Amino acid sequence: MIVETRDLTRRYGKTMALDHLNLAIPEGAIYGFIGPNGAGKTTTMRILTTLLLPSDGQAWVAGHSVVRDYQAVRRMVGFMPDFFGVYDSMKAWEYLDFFAAAYGIPASRRVSLVGELLELVGLAHKRDTYVMGLSRGMKQRLSLARTMAHNPPLLVLDEPASGLDPRARVELRELLRELRAMGKTIMISSHILTELAEICSHIGIIEHGQLLASGDVATILKSLQPHHVFEVHLLSDLEEAAALVRGGPGVLDVRSLPDSSPPMLQIDYQGGDQGVGDLLVRLVSGGAAVTHFAGQVSDLEDVFMKVTDRAGAREAPAGAEK
Ligand SMILES: Nc1ncnc2c1ncn2[C@@H]1O[C@H](COP(=O)(O)OP(=O)(O)OP(=O)(O)O)[C@@H](O)[C@H]1O
Ligand SMILES: [Mg+2]
Repeated sequence: MIVETRDLTRRYGKTMALDHLNLAIPEGAIYGFIGPNGAGKTTTMRILTTLLLPSDGQAWVAGHSVVRDYQAVRRMVGFMPDFFGVYDSMKAWEYLDFFAAAYGIPASRRVSLVGELLELVGLAHKRDTYVMGLSRGMKQRLSLARTMAHNPPLLVLDEPASGLDPRARVELRELLRELRAMGKTIMISSHILTELAEICSHIGIIEHGQLLASGDVATILKSLQPHHVFEVHLLSDLEEAAALVRGGPGVLDVRSLPDSSPPMLQIDYQGGDQGVGDLLVRLVSGGAAVTHFAGQVSDLEDVFMKVTDRAGAREAPAGAEK
């Protein structure tokens, strides 16, 4: 585990920003840290990057305590905060050069390093543009380049996608993939993880400073989905096809949707993968003309809404003031 916390707690006066948080992020993961406003995401990230002290509990980055061994932690982690500071009189290259110098990288190495970083985030052509003259998306990318100045194995990115247009989001996603391929572990926070769903390997869902769910994406989806829904598109009669699978092993329900486009069957199924193959065999050998057979994938957004819903239900009984 490159990140681990044990009962990590942070209070601001009476506010419990983090409430005995136990996180574990494996090396090489892209860890999506999802939660609504005020959930404790930024607080967690600031503690992991040694910018804030915990009130209680412990946290380690690559085995180093963020409290006792903060200097070692700082070498291991690059942080992209949710706000870009004001650096009006600096050009893009000067900005990176400044931070690289702050990390103690010698001037002789910095020239090529700054070029490489600008190249990596697609800003080589903006090398001599003043930071204030960059668009928001470009500033975000410059900020991301900065987190890598000292080549840390862990990147902690606080809402890097907020305020980006759709194209910039796609580009960010590609960039994250590239970084992962370079061997980085990435922790990334968001309210809305739909756009990151396909690139995250793990997710943690946080609300009111507590971790509601955490693990690899597939396991979390599975644990929240008691059964699978398969969609079958057919050229042949829907009802005939439905009769072939209805009542079969693991089949909970079969709905025929003649008015959907294209017309389809929806099969609620609970059981192992072997049985899924059997479903398809039964359809095809029974004479159904199947053109498409696939399990519905619920996205992280659904997961998030389900899990936080439950937490809300638990904490706010009917009529209770929040
Ligand atoms: N400096 C501070 N002083 C007092 N309370 C704070 C401070 N920083 C955060 N908090 C409180 O701690 C809780 C967690 O805040 P945090 O910024 O970690 O949430 P977040 O998940 O990052 O939210 P957002 O999605 O809005 O960025 C909130 O209740 C917030 O009001
Ligand atoms: Mg925040």
